[in-house]
Amino acid sequence: MKRYLKVSDIGDLNLALQEALEVKKNPYAWDAIGKNKTIILLFFNSSLRTRLSTQKAAMNLGMNVIVLDINKDGWQLETEFGVVMDGDKPEHLREAVPVIGRYCDIIAVRSFATFENKEDDYQEKILSQFIEFAGVPVISMESATRHPLQAFADLVTIEEKKTKKKPKVVLTWAPHPKALPQAVPNSFVEWMKEADVDLVVTHPKGYELAPEFSDGVTIEYDQNKAFEGADFVYAKNWASYHEYGQVLSKDKSWTVDEAKMALTNQAKFMHCLPVRRNMIVTDEVIDSENSIVIDQAANRVVSAQVVIKRMIEYLNK
Ligand code: CP
Repeated sequence: MKRYLKVSDIGDLNLALQEALEVKKNPYAWDAIGKNKTIILLFFNSSLRTRLSTQKAAMNLGMNVIVLDINKDGWQLETEFGVVMDGDKPEHLREAVPVIGRYCDIIAVRSFATFENKEDDYQEKILSQFIEFAGVPVISMESATRHPLQAFADLVTIEEKKTKKKPKVVLTWAPHPKALPQAVPNSFVEWMKEADVDLVVTHPKGYELAPEFSDGVTIEYDQNKAFEGADFVYAKNWASYHEYGQVLSKDKSWTVDEAKMALTNQAKFMHCLPVRRNMIVTDEVIDSENSIVIDQAANRVVSAQVVIKRMIEYLNK
């Protein structure tokens, strides 16, 4: 695998799932394949799970790992072309990325949507420069529009926890005090469309995802109706795509609570974390036996390990 940015990069989902379950069962079985290889985890934005799980996955494969919080530990990077660099950014991504590519065998990068410009975000202005200039394989650890390591971990979690062949999976918008990117719901929908699940997305009007993700998906504006018979409820906030980056609602009637979960088929509760308690979900639901958010986060090691393993196999060819 040369790059990991979206669902199509993983190939056959059933094969990927089988590999994930093998890796989970025996995480150290490939602990020599990364010897003398270096991965850099480069963060433009904060992280707990992605940073630790990707580092752990690389270590399980015997790699050397460099973690760089570019805003704290590096030069501030200019990302615009054709600008006079007389401001507070002393280095351009155009030099920084290929230099990093000379030091490292794989570059993993996290760069969120800025919400300054929809076209720039949806054309993946930062990530695409990494792909163009790195000269080595690139992994997205969440870009402006997608979070593929999270979605892969979500799929593994659903596969492990499902009690029927084709579960009903509901992705629900829930309120949040701040504007959050669409990367997690975009990727979740992108992956679930390829998986053997019955997917329903529910959100207030105005929160429709970009057509490239939402096309062909069942959208139900009545959250209670959407929850009926659900086997999995995945809660997430996102800002509006059409009124780009705007918070149109903080309506707490959309918070996932016990009354809503009672409409489901004893659904498992999922969230990618970090989660705002009693905004997105009540304490009672997230602390209940049906909450699988910790198992879901644990599977982030598995998804990262499959992806890095495939990249090392590509490099070792
Ligand atoms: N779910 C997730 O990506 O968590 P972090 O932002 O902590 O990495």
